[in-house]
Amino acid sequence: MLQTVKVNKKYFTKLDLSKIPSPCYVIDTKVLEDNLKIFSQLKTDTNVKILLALKAFSLKNLFPIFSNVLDGVCASGINEAKLGKKYFGGLISTYSPAFKDIEFDDIIKYSQHITFNSISQINKYRNLCVNKNVNFGVRINPLYSEVDILKYNSSNLNSRLGIHINQLDKLDFTDVKGIHFHSLCEQNFDALENTWNKIWPYLKNKVKKLEWINLGGGHHITRSDYNLNKLTNFLLELKTKTNCQIILEPGEAIVFQSGILVGEILDYIHGDNDKIPNIGITDISPVCHMPDVIEAPYRPLLMNEPTQGKKVLLGGPSCLAGDVIGEYNFLKKPNIGDKVVFLDQAHYTLVKTNFFNGINHPKVILWNSESNDLKVIKSFDFKDFETRN
Ligand SMILES: Cc1ncc(COP(=O)(O)O)c(C=O)c1O
Repeated sequence: MLQTVKVNKKYFTKLDLSKIPSPCYVIDTKVLEDNLKIFSQLKTDTNVKILLALKAFSLKNLFPIFSNVLDGVCASGINEAKLGKKYFGGLISTYSPAFKDIEFDDIIKYSQHITFNSISQINKYRNLCVNKNVNFGVRINPLYSEVDILKYNSSNLNSRLGIHINQLDKLDFTDVKGIHFHSLCEQNFDALENTWNKIWPYLKNKVKKLEWINLGGGHHITRSDYNLNKLTNFLLELKTKTNCQIILEPGEAIVFQSGILVGEILDYIHGDNDKIPNIGITDISPVCHMPDVIEAPYRPLLMNEPTQGKKVLLGGPSCLAGDVIGEYNFLKKPNIGDKVVFLDQAHYTLVKTNFFNGINHPKVILWNSESNDLKVIKSFDFKDFETRN
């Protein structure tokens, strides 16, 4: 089970839930602006380039807010690269475990940086990139990670992501301009420093030929206990030592704590004896609306949950027996129709929703906690279900 990240309980307390339809994601643009201030300062202090990882969050209505501060996007393939090019601009950096011939011409058109995952893909596409003047690099697997959960550890021996660091001598570095690694997950600075210390001995003879080093995502920069001072000093030193442009491509940290998912209790079943818990059926399906609850898995935080109280097992409306959010405490058992609010639901949620069982996507509302302005920016209906089938 992935540990649930703690959030600041003050977020979203001023939101009038009676104005929010259910189910609905609400994004607080004030929180996004506060997060972006941290990245803006880091850029000023270190000259690092920061890209939004679209895999974590790709709501294009918000791109103007992000692109005021950030340098571009990190894309996982053709569609994210095209979205980034069309709506975000700046540096589009595309990495995929393997590119397909049929898509590669377009990927080159949309991207300024391409990161390859293997020596064979570099050899295959090297000339094309050089001819089209596209800057390319290679993803390495540092073979070092502090991520305990295997699914999120991209740097183990059997990982398919990147060339093993000790195999780099097999690569002909002609025209290779960059090095990329991504081996952190919701981590503080020390994990980055430890990882870099493992990488450096293998890179120190190669950096002279390079233009950029991309440190991937997973840096939990906007968390209150993140050691920003150490990161700042590290980035400055790295720049001096390597003379390369340093790039970060966080996703989660950029939208951290900016979103909630609001649902309501539709019905109860059981709970009339001590052996079987109260089971509340909600209009939020973890399978469809918070897939990481099942996939990670993890237990999302419920707003205002007391440490003890009436226990209710909350689940979704789909047919899957495991469409269960988790067991939660309430001061008193909520009534049918009462709202339930799950915290920190911006990243890796809207990008992962699906129409399993034909269950509708939640609406999306932008709210500003300072001005209290509220705007529905997305609503879904049968047409959306119909067009994807
Ligand atoms: C290559 C790459 N870059 C960036 C990210 C963004 O990571 P995060 O959202 O944890 O910051 C990921 C996430 O999986 C990734 O695989």
